[in-house]
Amino acid sequence: MIHLNLTSKKALEMIESSRGKTPDDGWIDHSKCVGYAASKIAKALNLDEDKAKALGYIHDIGKLIKFQNHVMEGYNYLKKLGYDDCYCNVCLTHSYLNNDVNCTQGNPVDIPFRTEFIKNHEYTIYEKIINLCDLMCMKKVVTLEKRLIDVISRRPQHDNIVYHVNEALKLKKYFDDLLGYNLYDLFPEIKKNL
Ligand SMILES: [Fe+2]
Repeated sequence: MIHLNLTSKKALEMIESSRGKTPDDGWIDHSKCVGYAASKIAKALNLDEDKAKALGYIHDIGKLIKFQNHVMEGYNYLKKLGYDDCYCNVCLTHSYLNNDVNCTQGNPVDIPFRTEFIKNHEYTIYEKIINLCDLMCMKKVVTLEKRLIDVISRRPQHDNIVYHVNEALKLKKYFDDLLGYNLYDLFPEIKKNL
C-alpha cells in the first residue's frame, strides 16, 4: 500500500486542472482561499505550512467527481490514487464539527461508514484548521460570522443550525486561545472583504 505525500504545488495543480470540468468552478477559488488561510494559521502556530496549504487546496476535490456527496467522493478518489490518509481524511472531516455528522450545514444522509468515521476519528490540528477555514472562506477570507450568515441566508434552514453555529464559534475561540490573540488579526484584509 502506497502512502503518497501531497505537496501544495501538486494539490494546486490538481484543482486548477479541474477548471471547466465541473458545473461551477467556484469551489476551486474557494479551495485556494482555504489553502491560503490554513497556511497562515499553521505558520502562526509553528506548524507545517505546506501541509496545511495542501489540505486546504484538496479538501473539496470530491466536487470534481460529483458535487452531491463530494465528501465521500473526495475521500475515495484520493485513497484510490494512493495518497496518505491525512489527505483522504480531510475530505471527510472538513464539513463536520464536534465529531458529529449532524453538526454541519444541512441535513446529512446517513452513510454508516461516514457516520462512524466522524464519531471515532481524533481530529488533528490540521483538520481543525481546515474546518475553521472552510467556514471563513468564500473566494476571499471573511469572518466566520459573515460566512455563516451568508450560508444561512441562501439555504433553507435545517434542524441543527443553532448547534452548528455554536460549535463553529467554539472552534474559532479554540484557535484564539491557542494563538493568544484574535485569529482575525492574521488577516488584516478581512475588513475589506466584509
Ligand atoms: Fe470547502
